[in-house]
Amino acid sequence: MWQTISYVSTANRLLTNSDIDELLDFVKVKNNNLHITGILMYSDGNFFQILEGEKTIIKELFKKILHDPKHYDVIKIFDHEMEKPSFSKYNSNFSTINRRSEHLELQQFLEKEKSNNPETFKSISYLTNKFMQLS
Ligand SMILES: Cc1cc2nc3c(=O)[nH]c(=O)nc-3n(C[C@H](O)[C@H](O)[C@H](O)COP(=O)(O)O)c2cc1C
Repeated sequence: MWQTISYVSTANRLLTNSDIDELLDFVKVKNNNLHITGILMYSDGNFFQILEGEKTIIKELFKKILHDPKHYDVIKIFDHEMEKPSFSKYNSNFSTINRRSEHLELQQFLEKEKSNNPETFKSISYLTNKFMQLS
């Protein structure tokens, strides 16, 4: 069973740019090893993340993320099952999506959300645009 969770949060004020770079690198390696796919973006003091993967792994990971003191005000955007993951790997970026392929995968994800979960589509497309414009 596949699960996807998305949220936004606010970075702890004490985090430096290099702390954030380190976190993004750590998450990328860890998630790719666990076959967790999705995206993590940081911009202007906020994180935006989409996680996809095996249901129990994603639920467990989200519990850890929720209690991580590196950020606060974690607001869940959606948490639902999915037929199959949209992203081919895990992407973490500082501020922006650099590669066209990453952008395409995000668009495909949004298209699926639009037809399967129209109620969350609006907020997620608004947020992804915001995060990408701020780069
Ligand atoms: C914004 C944010 C996003 C995170 N995303 C992930 C993630 O996708 N995968 C992950 O393993 N850890 C992520 N973490 C780190 C986890 O909260 C936690 O520190 C880590 O999973 C603990 O790893 P451990 O079980 O090896 O100690 C994230 C932390 C923050 C602040």
